[in-house]
Amino acid sequence: MRIKFQQLPEQNLKPLFEDSNTLGFCKYFTDYMFTMNYTEEDGWHSPTIKPFTSFEVAPSSLVLHYAQEIFEGLKAFKGVDGKIRLFRPDMNAKRFNRSAERLCMPNFLENDFLESIHALVYTEQRWIPSNKGTALYIRPFMFATDETLGVRASSAYTYCLILSPVGPYYQEGFNPVSLFVSSDFTRAGKGGLGEAKTGANYAASLLAGKMARQQGCAQVLWLDGAEHRFIEEVGAMNIFFVFDEKTLVTPVLNGSILPGVTRDSVLKLGESLGYKVVERQISIDEVIGGITTGSITEVFGTGTAASISPVGSLKYLDADYIVNSRKVGPVSQNLYDNLLKIQYGEIPEPFPGWTVELEGPEDKALSI
Ligand code: COI
Repeated sequence: MRIKFQQLPEQNLKPLFEDSNTLGFCKYFTDYMFTMNYTEEDGWHSPTIKPFTSFEVAPSSLVLHYAQEIFEGLKAFKGVDGKIRLFRPDMNAKRFNRSAERLCMPNFLENDFLESIHALVYTEQRWIPSNKGTALYIRPFMFATDETLGVRASSAYTYCLILSPVGPYYQEGFNPVSLFVSSDFTRAGKGGLGEAKTGANYAASLLAGKMARQQGCAQVLWLDGAEHRFIEEVGAMNIFFVFDEKTLVTPVLNGSILPGVTRDSVLKLGESLGYKVVERQISIDEVIGGITTGSITEVFGTGTAASISPVGSLKYLDADYIVNSRKVGPVSQNLYDNLLKIQYGEIPEPFPGWTVELEGPEDKALSI
């Protein structure tokens, strides 16, 4: 892929964030973005790195009316050795295409997806914060641009990549958050969009999210759409329950749960650290029973943005169920420490391909 580079004069570059300890999540965006366009006649074309700026989108663009949009989220970490590493980007490339298929959007070559990331992150290296717990968040997305109000799949699309230096997703940092278990609303149902990474799933979550915050909770823990009985996920994270400090249980992927990269990594890492890992249906009754009797010793969420986030309480049908006295438990801590050590290059990757060193344009013959 030959990428066109529209370089900004040095004096037009944005000032960097001042303090990497107060980055929060996606408050700042870098100087450049990557774009590529699709038409049925030409396929994917015109890869360009250009200044981060607004799009011109027609009021009749399909995405604005029928939400034909998908996205991904991954991170670049600056290691203790100064090297920049991406974490399992091939998983995002594959999931992007599964989401595209579900939303009737064109396939995006995995190589082009990865190359766009390497090229933009390489260009924007100065934005990568280096203290532990911070990273450069990478947001690839694709949206429909046909101008019509007929309900159909678009024939033209834009792919775009933007970057943001980030700290922890939750203001709590690596401290337990409270979750609100919604018994009224549904994030996704059988046969719906639940396992696709598309904005529509997040739009569906907003009202319950607002109610969660009114009740002092950070996020919603969703139950299945048919019976409101089985645990699904948290929207910004998948969820794990630790039984007796040694068994990790997470809901089995059933079509309405997002197949998280961190979820998969924790299953593999957990097993390699000696925990028993189980993917199965788990009901809210079993969870409440387990917290009440003490057999569930910890609960935590997993996500690219959220990393591993301990859960300190569940609010369900007006009652609060406190987990591990609202403290970070040893299993969450152990998994978090190991995951970060891998991501920041402190220990070798336990599985081939988990960390991918950033490749500069010399290797790729880009016109940057
Ligand atoms: C991520 O973890 O990258 C996500 O996409 C969750 C998010 C919607 C903040």
